[in-house]
Amino acid sequence: MPERSVSTRLADRTTLRLGGPAAGLVRAASADEIVAAVDALDAAGTPLLVLGGGSNLVVADEGFAGTVVALGAPDHDAVTVADDADRDGVEVTVAAGVWWDDLVARAGAEGWVGVEALSGIPGTVGATPIQNVGAYGQDVAQRVRRVRVWDRRLRGVRTFAGDECAFGYRTSRFKRDRYDAVGGRHVVLDVTFGLARGDLSAPVAYAELARTLGVEVGERAPLADVREAVLGLRRGKGMVLDADDHDTWSAGSFFTNPVIDPGLVPDGAPAYPQPDGSVKTSAAWLIDRAGFAKGYPGDGPVTLSTKHTLALTNRGGASTADLLALAREIRDGVADRFGIVLENEPVTVGCAL
Ligand code: EPU
Repeated sequence: MPERSVSTRLADRTTLRLGGPAAGLVRAASADEIVAAVDALDAAGTPLLVLGGGSNLVVADEGFAGTVVALGAPDHDAVTVADDADRDGVEVTVAAGVWWDDLVARAGAEGWVGVEALSGIPGTVGATPIQNVGAYGQDVAQRVRRVRVWDRRLRGVRTFAGDECAFGYRTSRFKRDRYDAVGGRHVVLDVTFGLARGDLSAPVAYAELARTLGVEVGERAPLADVREAVLGLRRGKGMVLDADDHDTWSAGSFFTNPVIDPGLVPDGAPAYPQPDGSVKTSAAWLIDRAGFAKGYPGDGPVTLSTKHTLALTNRGGASTADLLALAREIRDGVADRFGIVLENEPVTVGCAL
């Protein structure tokens, strides 16, 4: 049976270092432990929060009046590897609680291609399909072959193929299908990625990364170089966790990039055409141009990162109420200036913007 322990402060388990206590906590690592914990709590009608790396989570100061299911990497079969002879690659099946960047580092060392641009992203593997984690021209949707979940409604294990996951920009069926206000219907147990083999990366698809590597967009570069370049870019934006650097006490990008009608994009704003005719613009740019520069408002317990306007950061001693107040000020300021309403990317628990 999963180990049970006393109530716990969520501030100690989120990268923002914010959030009050949970009423209970259960640790679960293997798929069997996750299923046992979730099903027992559901049977008892106890609200639950599945917690991976806590890197995309805003928890109310009041905490969570339910039980946290805290994921960890299992001792056995955390990562299993199978040849994919048809495509000259590998299928790598990874337990939900494995730290994402450990997988990416291993992929680099093994010569598995396709996730190198996703280096340095905090959080666990199980979280990646939920919000279709992406950066620097890659997202996990491009590589997910299967996601095995516990379906809390049907009370059974199900497997979704990649094309059944309804992936979109920072979304999926796992994010949309709700069980209750806090929890998703599906709890990810493991994810199978299809990766190519080689020493060179997938074609570089992000201009800033290509420039850093000294290649053209669409060219390949050594896997190790891509990992180093991405880590360097992320560090420069305060997006690699560092306990000593308050710019990294964040939930990464606090808002998603708005996907809007081309006619609504402000003059001069970045515009990335989407397949359906809409355009993705830059939330960071909108925030900046609405008068919220890096580091805004200068002092106080919560400010924008001094390295990137899209991250809200805890300078130490902040509360979630402080964070939400700044988030609302920015959302409202951008709406007043540009008529575009930003949406928060992190999941909120017990609070809302
Ligand atoms: N910009 C500003 N001010 C800033 C920073 C950026 O005006 O302080 C403008 C610039 O014009 C820049 C543009 O914003 O060209 C885009 O910035 P960046 O390349 O850093 O990317 P982003 O759109 O802000 C997205 C993801 C990140 C991901 C990067 C790199 C979202 C919500 N965010 O950020 O993902 O690392 O691209 O691919 O899609 C995350 O989701 O938590 C995350 C960090």
